[in-house]
Amino acid sequence: MSAASDDLTRQRPDRNLALELVRVTEAAALACAPLVGAGEKEAADQAAVDGMRYALHSIRMDGTVVIGEGEKDEAPMLYNGERIGDGSPPQVDIAVDPLEGTTLAAHGMPSALAVIALSSRGTMFDPGPCVYMEKMAGAPEIADLMDLDRPLAQTVKLIAERKGHPVGDVMVVVLDRPRHEQGIREIREAGARVRLIAHGDVSAALLAVTERSPVDMLWGIGGTPEGVISAAAIKCLGGQLLGRLWPRDDTERQAAIDAGYDVQRVLDCNDLIADDDVFFSATGVTDGDVLQGVRYPHAGGATTESLVMRSRSGTVRRIRATHDRAKLRALGVERV
Ligand code: FBP
Repeated sequence: MSAASDDLTRQRPDRNLALELVRVTEAAALACAPLVGAGEKEAADQAAVDGMRYALHSIRMDGTVVIGEGEKDEAPMLYNGERIGDGSPPQVDIAVDPLEGTTLAAHGMPSALAVIALSSRGTMFDPGPCVYMEKMAGAPEIADLMDLDRPLAQTVKLIAERKGHPVGDVMVVVLDRPRHEQGIREIREAGARVRLIAHGDVSAALLAVTERSPVDMLWGIGGTPEGVISAAAIKCLGGQLLGRLWPRDDTERQAAIDAGYDVQRVLDCNDLIADDDVFFSATGVTDGDVLQGVRYPHAGGATTESLVMRSRSGTVRRIRATHDRAKLRALGVERV
């Protein structure tokens, strides 16, 4: 092996960082869970950011935040470009969403998550000025049917055909937004069903690609950061997510074009994360289809459930943990 390739081999993240990242998403979930249902989304987000930041700095890595949380809603953030970890190899890109579904958590609604994804340095798509992206995601069985240019009515019929089901069995999960009215109509007129969600399209993307899921496909315009994070998860789980930047107005479109983005381009999971060694961890904050949220089974105790994955090995772990709240408070994870 040449010195150069030997060096490259050593640079690659060869330990399973996901097993360390689970502590990060657990810390974020545990930190914000006392605020679930309190109606204060900024406070919940801040608590999750603080919990995540606290645990992240203990990880041996030289990380740069490529996808940070908060620009859209001016939420507190792990800001883009922030260096994370102790500075030792591996060099990695990081995407974080300390509280995906801030409103869900604030209202005590299902499917809020704490989530992080990590890949080799320089491999994560930076969405630049574009806040939103049109997305379509489905499981491996229908991955090749994903197409943002084909009419939705045709796609749901093709999914039904592929699965050997009547089209009436097909369920598409869509964020409940006025911008989706036309698409929802097309899906329904084709005879398929729609599951409307208030927030949380990372959780919805996970559900869409999960085997024996009640949902066949995710479609709609949601956050670009959430699109990159979903792509990281799908690189581990299998399936496909396609995304196309969706500038909100001409100013944003021009800013994207000036920054060198092709806003017509359809990006797949490999464009969103150009690496085959992706690490992903998500911990449930509130109960959802994919993960159980933080629970307090008795005074002083808390439980978490996390999904911990690595794309190179394809290993998907569910980690259930019990925590001692007094000790978490002493460590500064839980402050509320
Ligand atoms: P936050 O956690 O930042 O509130 O995002 C929740 C979310 O529902 C995402 O899951 C989704 O991608 C995005 O917001 C949709 O944006 P909008 O609510 O502006 O339509």
